[in-house]
Order: sequence, then C-alpha cells, then structure tokens
Amino acid sequence: PFEAKVDSIISLMTIEEKIGQLNLPTSGDITTGQAQSSNVAKKIEEGKVGGLFNVKSVEKIREIQKIAVEKSRLKIPLLFGMDVIHGYETTFPIPLGLSCSWDMEMIKKTAQMAAKEATADGINWTFSPMVDISRDPRWGRVSEGSGEDPYLGSEIAKAMVHGYQGDDLTNNNTMLACVKHFALYGAPEAGRDYNTVDMSKIRMYNEYLPPYKAAIDAGVGSVMASFNEIDGVPATGNKWLLTDLLRTNWGFNGFVVTDYTGIYEMIEHGVGDKYDVAALALNAGVDMDMAGDSPTIPAAFVKTLKQSVDNGKVKMADIDAAVKRILTAKYELGLFENPYKYCDTSRPTKEIFTKENKLFARKVASESMVLLKNDNQLLPLKKTGTIALIGPLANTAVNMAGTWSVATKQHLSNPLLEGLKTVVGDKAKIEYAKGSNIDYDLDLEKRATMFGKEIPRDGRTDKELMDEALAIASKSDVIIAALGESAEFSGESSSRTNLQIPQVQKDLLNALLKTGKPVVLVLFTGRPLAIVDENKNVPAILNVWFPGSEAGLAISDVLFGDVNPSGKLTATFPMNVGQVPLFYNHKNTGRPLGNNEGKFEKFKSNYLDVRNEPLYPFGYGLSYTTFNYDNLQLNSTKMDTSGSVTISVDVTNSGNFDGKEVVQLYVRDVVGSVTRPVKELKGFQKIELKKGETKTVTFKLTVEDLKFYNSNLDFIAEPGMFQIFVGTDSNASLSSQFELTK
Ligand code: IFM
Repeated sequence: PFEAKVDSIISLMTIEEKIGQLNLPTSGDITTGQAQSSNVAKKIEEGKVGGLFNVKSVEKIREIQKIAVEKSRLKIPLLFGMDVIHGYETTFPIPLGLSCSWDMEMIKKTAQMAAKEATADGINWTFSPMVDISRDPRWGRVSEGSGEDPYLGSEIAKAMVHGYQGDDLTNNNTMLACVKHFALYGAPEAGRDYNTVDMSKIRMYNEYLPPYKAAIDAGVGSVMASFNEIDGVPATGNKWLLTDLLRTNWGFNGFVVTDYTGIYEMIEHGVGDKYDVAALALNAGVDMDMAGDSPTIPAAFVKTLKQSVDNGKVKMADIDAAVKRILTAKYELGLFENPYKYCDTSRPTKEIFTKENKLFARKVASESMVLLKNDNQLLPLKKTGTIALIGPLANTAVNMAGTWSVATKQHLSNPLLEGLKTVVGDKAKIEYAKGSNIDYDLDLEKRATMFGKEIPRDGRTDKELMDEALAIASKSDVIIAALGESAEFSGESSSRTNLQIPQVQKDLLNALLKTGKPVVLVLFTGRPLAIVDENKNVPAILNVWFPGSEAGLAISDVLFGDVNPSGKLTATFPMNVGQVPLFYNHKNTGRPLGNNEGKFEKFKSNYLDVRNEPLYPFGYGLSYTTFNYDNLQLNSTKMDTSGSVTISVDVTNSGNFDGKEVVQLYVRDVVGSVTRPVKELKGFQKIELKKGETKTVTFKLTVEDLKFYNSNLDFIAEPGMFQIFVGTDSNASLSSQFELTK
C-alpha cells in the first residue's frame, strides 16, 4: 500500500541519502562494551542514518527523532532499535527459562508487555526473537533461545512475533520484531561462540531452519543475519540464504539487518577486502548495516557503497531495493504519519515497571522453573522454624535478570533473600550467609567490567566465608543453597568447556550436606549443567535459570508451594561435557544400544565411560504432585493423506496437590527414504488438574505433521508406519501406532 509513496521519496534521494538509510549506528548510549559511533547527530542531519540502536529514554529519542524530521533534507524518521529480549525494565526469565513454561499464551503476553514498556520509552524495533536451535550447552547463547526442539521452537517463535507486533503495527504499543540470528548460529563447532557451522542441508531444513521459517510465516518484519558461515559463505554475504531461501522460497518481504559489524567481520572470515565484503552483503540481500559506521570499523555500507556503484560492483537498483524495504517498514510502523508516535513522555511512568507488570513477571518466573529432584517430598518447604539461606547467589540483585537485559535496572531486581523474607513473613526465621564467591577460576571481573557490571569479590577468605555459613547452617532446620552460574557465565561470548558448578561452590555444597540437615539446591544457570554429583547427593533441586526482576518472590512462591512447579526442560542436561551434543531427537544409527540397562556393549554406539542417557531428558520436570497416564487411544490405525488421526489419553492427578502438567506427544516415522529421528515432538498441551482429577487430552495429527525434507529437499510425507508416544517427557513410553496409506 505504501509503494507509490516510498518510490516517490526514493526518486528525491541522493545516493548518499540512500546509503544513509542503510546505516544503523549505535548511539553509544547503552554500552555493551562494543565500539561506538561518533557525530551521530550531525550524520542524522545530513540524512546519513536510517536508524539508531541502544538509546534509552523517551526524551532522548524524541530529541533525536526531531533532528531527523526537522533538520534533515527529506525529513525521514528514524528507527530506534534495542535488544528487548526477555522483557524491558520488567524482566522475565532468560528465554531458555521462559521456554520451559511451554505456555504459548503466556510467552506471547511477555512479548506484548515488553513491547508496551519499550514503546513507552520510544523504542520501535526489537532485536528479538532469538530462535536459534542449540544442542550445545557449551555455547553461552543457549540461554537466549528456546532450546533444542524445532517444533517447540517454532511455536515460541510465532508467539513472540505475534506478541511484539500484534495485529496492527501502527498502534503505539506494538513494535517491529527481528528474528535472529539467521541462520544456524546455535550450532558452532565445539560450542565456541562465532565459530564455524558446517551442516548437511537435510539437517538444516528439518532441524534448524523451522523456527526462523515460523517467524517469517508469522509476519516478522525484519531478520538479522548471523555471524557464522554456512556452506563456507558467511551468512551476512550468503545470497543463497538471504535471497534464494529467505525471499524467493519463503516469501519474506521485510528487511535484513546485519549483526554488529557483521560486514566488517567478513574481512576476517577471509572473503574479501572492505569493498568486496560490503558489496557481497548488499548483493546477497542485506539491507541495513549494524554498527559498521564507527571510527574503528573500515568496512561499512556508508564507507564503500558509493564507490562500488561507480565501479559497477553494486547496482543502484539493489541499493534502491534495500532503501525501499527500510522505508516501507517505517511506513508500516506509522512513522511517516507521526514520527513521534512512540514519543509520549507521559507514558513511561504509567507503563514501565509497574506493579501490575511485576506481578506478571513473578508469575511467569515461577512457571518457568524446573523441579529436577525432590526426594521424600522435601519440597514444598513449611514456613516454620529456622531456614538457612546460603550461597553467593542468595543475595545478589544484579544477577537475577540474566544475560541480554540491557534495559533492566539490575539493582532493582528482587534477590532471593528479600523474596524469601517477604513470602515467609514472621512465620519462620531466615538466616543468611554468602558461603563462597561465585568463582575464582574465571577472569570474571575483567569480563564483567566489559559488560558494564561489577561482580564484587568478597574481602573475606574462602575459609571465613565457609565458617560463617556452616555456623548458620548447623543451627537451622533446613538449608536452601543458592548456587550456580552468575549472569555473565552465559550469553554472548560466554562459552564454557566445563559444565559444572564452580568448584568453590561445590565445596560449599558438600560442607552443607555434611551438616546432616536437609538441603534444597536452588540452581541458577543460563545453560544445561552437568550436575551429576548434585543429583546424587542433594535431595531436592529446583532449577530457576535467571528468573528476572521478581526472582526472589517467584522462587519463594515455588519453594513454599504457593505455586506448584510445572516447568519442563527444553534442552537436555548431559551427564558430562563429553556427551555433548546430546539431544532427544537423534537418529538410531546402524548400531543402536539394546535395552541392556545401560551396560556397555562392544561394537555398539556407546561410550566406555558413561551411559548414552542424559542426566535429565528433554521435556523433563517434576511437580509436587504426580500424574498418571493411561487409556491411550487412536480413533483409527490408518490415515490417508487427506485425513487425520485423533489420539487421546487420560491424565490423572494422582498426588496430593493441584498442579499443571505438560502432556507431550512424540512421533517416530519408522521407515523413510532418509533416516528419521527416533522421536520428534509433534504436539503438547499444558493442562491444569485438581488433585484426584482426570482429564482426557486429545491431539490431532494430519499429514502436515508427518512431513519432512527428503534428499531432494522436497517437503513430503511418506506412507508407512508411524509410532506415537505420549507422556510426561521425551522418555514417554505409552505407545501406539498407525499407518499412513497412499
Ligand atoms: O542483537 C544483538 C545480537 O544478538 C548480538 N550482537 C549485537 C546485537 C545488537 O546488540
């Protein structure tokens, strides 16, 4: 609808102004430790900026927008982007945690609320959702995605896009979303961030691409190219990816932005000089250059494209096409009609970090926690006696929001100690000791400074910290140990080769266990951890991820049973780092292990030193109650290609608490023209059951659910037998089968 208007603006533009629209500098307002651009205001006035990112505050944004629409020749409004990843100031759990809620309506609402808060502060574009499938907990950014499963990841991608963008982008409380990092960024070799990705097309299409495609189908307005290479060509310069697949096959008609200095980095990848890489990016289908326009970065659209047009490396028509996509997005957001539509300075105090939003964040956080172990029903705790809260993560506000929470006021997050005291009131006595530092092994202080946060190290020695903790613990009735990773252990550029809790904390935990008091481990983490020792020795483990602004209250709600935990893992927890990558939807191989109770079998696909099974499988998570599954029924044992099969199962709450359960449906395509996974998630429902209650849950499968990409990359379903499994996690054993007929 805006084509004529956009074309008429383009006809007035100089080449410098056109290239300016493709330029996305950072304002340097919120530092992520990366390079900052200079003279931004002057460049805006000259029409050399299309958007800015990381400006925080509606007043500043209004001022900057004013320069664009009042002082620049063509008065083109700016986009204002930010990493609004899991909330804005009101912060929800890290995305990996959020995904464990398996609650699509709630996830959508988190995105809606984030959009409402961010737009109240002037932001109109978020660099979210991050939908990279990852099966590698060494990779620090596993924390930012929705885990290992393409089906669940696609549902979440859809929910997030709908949440941010709503039905109407011209509203002033919805914003443009940006699906990232396109593509395959979650599969770097050895889990090291930015490392090479090398993957077969079959795996790519079936296992890694679906969530990006789901976001495109949901109408996402922009796409961010990833840092990695694909088939030897960096994604930022990969024409097959950004044009043939994204635009031609998938029909995407929004705009593509690079990741931070992605164009320049192609020089390091070794695919050309500064002119080559910028031309490569534009010709591949990139529209906007993020952070290239900075004094220390040589390769950028603004620094090379004009010359490349003059010498024929780049066609003017391709620049025009990129400008057109960006201007169209600005029209779709309603910025031409009212450039200040997101600049209502009365909104922030009414809409950001409100009581209502914080209450919702508390609920969301409690729904995302995963109960990993609960021997003898140690949890929920009673609000009586003396409770010792011990650990370096027990009383730290700055760690609660987790990674990529740039707008959060870290110090205003609710630490566990505070939450516990509020929830318990005067019913029980809470005694606190830090017990240890988070870690001595890593050079965390340096890294923390880089991310603009301080991790204060305690002035006391390890022994002094431990002695204080043990004195308190030994006089308590129960110990809550708040241990794990600090926020900086995960996120960008935070890969680890050791998936354990830091040794100093393990020592603390062992000492606490030796007191003989019951110990509950509250585990903070941004990734699946190999907590074999803890699983063996600690009676109760609640994985809380990084829960967000209302962390302490939400954790306490679960610990004391005001909320019955219902989170289910969306990423497998391995026994050790050597098992990685470990995921439930693997192939069978020609030498699978028999059902031999985990014993080693020579010449079978297994290890000498550890079983193949994970510590906790995909989909796993306990409740304070128990659920029984029975009466699995199929309405037919045959399905033709235009039909469907309805599967039903009775789920009973057989324990002593009301609770929620995520009922999971898995399918195995028994024989295929290419090998198929041993199991694939094809449906789930989160239901609520009163104690003693039974509900019949039904799923409907159609031929669409049975399709996959074959060796010609045709998306087809092949006739034959399909096994189905229904249950509480990916080990679901209640099983039946049907045949897809021709
Ligand atoms: O959006 C992020 C991206 O995920 C990683 N690099 C920087 C971008 C902008 O902050």
